[in-house]
Amino acid sequence: MLQDALGRRFYYLRLSITDVCNFRCTYCLPDGYQGKPDQSFLTLPEIRQTLRAFAVLGTEKVRLTGGEPGLRADLPEIIAEAAGTPGIRKVAITSNGYKLPQRIDRWREAGLNQLNLSIDSLDPRQFQAITGHDRLREVLDGMDRALELGVNTKVNAVLMRGLNDQLSEFLAWLKTIPVTLRFIEVMETGDHPTFFREHHMSGETVKERLLNEGWQPVIRTREAGPAQEFWHPDFAGRIGLIMPYSKDFCASCNRLRISSTGKLHLCLFSDHGLDVRQWMQPDVDNTELQNKLVELLRFKAPTHLLHEHNSGGTQNLSIIGG
Ligand code: GTP
Ligand code: 5AD
Ligand code: SF4
Repeated sequence: MLQDALGRRFYYLRLSITDVCNFRCTYCLPDGYQGKPDQSFLTLPEIRQTLRAFAVLGTEKVRLTGGEPGLRADLPEIIAEAAGTPGIRKVAITSNGYKLPQRIDRWREAGLNQLNLSIDSLDPRQFQAITGHDRLREVLDGMDRALELGVNTKVNAVLMRGLNDQLSEFLAWLKTIPVTLRFIEVMETGDHPTFFREHHMSGETVKERLLNEGWQPVIRTREAGPAQEFWHPDFAGRIGLIMPYSKDFCASCNRLRISSTGKLHLCLFSDHGLDVRQWMQPDVDNTELQNKLVELLRFKAPTHLLHEHNSGGTQNLSIIGG
């Protein structure tokens, strides 16, 4: 059982399957992907071992992350592997939506239940300025198809002062679109501190406006992520706020992370990862990996250090998988 000394249970694994990304989001990879092209990411057999170990220890939900998970040719097989792992009830993915209309049907057939899509602006030009790609239409078409197929879909928009302050446009959109739109406070990453200083804005201002306009907080469930959610009777969609700087949600942390090269990250912010790849090898007894995970969980800190001055933020999110 994955439970730490503070009684936190870990039902949710975020498994990064690549750190390669083809977008260049200004807050994440402004110069594009700079990693080593010969990097060896977890193989399907290693992923199988990992999923089994976590599932035996109580994990019920897996989110595949990256980089861009869609860039892995074997993604449908990975989704099917996760969906077929006894104990795993939900398979989710976080994607930039590249070529989504051509891909979503296969992902769904393989067993995908949830999709989180990054859409930082509803204005095509601004979308291009932020991501480096003129692909807003394609991402929105893919989102429509995902909704048609019954995939539970959420949209992520990073809040950036001066770059996409378009709350009114997003709200108008949510009148008819049945997705949860989450505004994320931009997080400081070690390799991008100036961007953070110039563009970070608190989610509290958004929250004040929502409460003034009749939005109501949604009661949190056991599986809830870091977002505080709001609903409104006149809107088809919901809003979520992810505010690592303004609101501390570590007490209800329910997730662990594995990086694309097999490192266990106990927190998004605190560490550089503990290498567990040697125990993921197909010829190693799966209980060895299970024991290692339980043992390492003892090192999970009660809370992240973001509130401390000069914490240095996190590693780039394309490496840890967000
Ligand atoms: P679900 O709850 O499964 O829908 O997913 P999520 O919101 O955790 O996942 P997603 O990949 O869409 O991530 C959205 C944002 O939340 C990203 O910026 C993540 O880095 C951030 N995030 C995810 N998990 C954590 C966490 O444990 N702590 C903090 N501070 N941020 C997180
Ligand atoms: N701050 C906040 N959110 C970020 N993301 C990537 N980098 C950052 C950052 N520095 C978001 C992406 C994606 C999610 C997984 O993480 O926009 O939606
Ligand atoms: Fe790629 Fe996601 Fe980073 Fe954008 S935020 S560059 S889509 S990994």
